[in-house]
Amino acid sequence: MKETIAVMADIHGNLPAFLAIKADLRKRGIEKVIVAGDMISDCPDSDEVLTLVRKSEWIVIKGNREQYFLDHQAGHLNHWTHARQMSALMWTFDKLGRSNRAYIQSLPDQKRIEIGGISIRITHGSPDSLSELLYPDRKRERFEEVMNALEEDLLICGHSHNQWFLEQEGKWALNPGSAGIHFNKGEGAQYALLSISEGKLSARLISVPYSLDELEKRFHDSGLYQASPHWSRSIIDSLREGENISLLMIDYALNLMEREGITDALTIPDPIWDRAGEEFLKNRNRG
Ligand SMILES: [Fe+2]
Repeated sequence: MKETIAVMADIHGNLPAFLAIKADLRKRGIEKVIVAGDMISDCPDSDEVLTLVRKSEWIVIKGNREQYFLDHQAGHLNHWTHARQMSALMWTFDKLGRSNRAYIQSLPDQKRIEIGGISIRITHGSPDSLSELLYPDRKRERFEEVMNALEEDLLICGHSHNQWFLEQEGKWALNPGSAGIHFNKGEGAQYALLSISEGKLSARLISVPYSLDELEKRFHDSGLYQASPHWSRSIIDSLREGENISLLMIDYALNLMEREGITDALTIPDPIWDRAGEEFLKNRNRG
């Protein structure tokens, strides 16, 4: 018997993208879904996305964004509370409803499941860390180390927002890409379809188009754009241009800090953050 399972990760509060994937799954008649963490933050509708995920019967684990929320709740991230760099995250945390807060608390770091004779390890970053970035191409040695230590047939991970599926000495690894912050200009929300039949597995990497204009409008209507303009702009530009512009903006800010001789800050100081946002994004748009 053939089983088809959808795999997604890194929805990041992007409701139009998430609804486009849900509609695609409905059209294909797929009910079994794995979500590999980072449902929340960066796009405006984290609470709504989390409610839809919570009410499903899907297999869900937490990502580093959910862990940030738990750490913040526990008082471990007080230095983030008033930093402008973290204002999008704080805005998101404030908006989470009570049931969704409890839901995050209930999510496991990772999970091991078995489908049709195939064992699967579901992680957000890597089996060793929620926030480790696994890159089969750029950091090959570490990737091979992780795969050699893997006891299961298939590793599912997210976090890097890169979409790939590959075989590594008889084992498989899948990153479904990012449902909500995808770096694939003009293509849309990413996920993967995993097919398991008679102990064999294959995967299809999928992108579903949806309206970025609608998403951008949500940024403004929800108030997230006003609460965190530079970060919001960088996320929207990343989606439109297919490049991780948010990360480039952080690099730009860290560079400014270095030039100013600031070495002991736990977060990027507000004046540096604002300068980075203004200069970097303006220069990009001009170029
Ligand atoms: Fe992540």
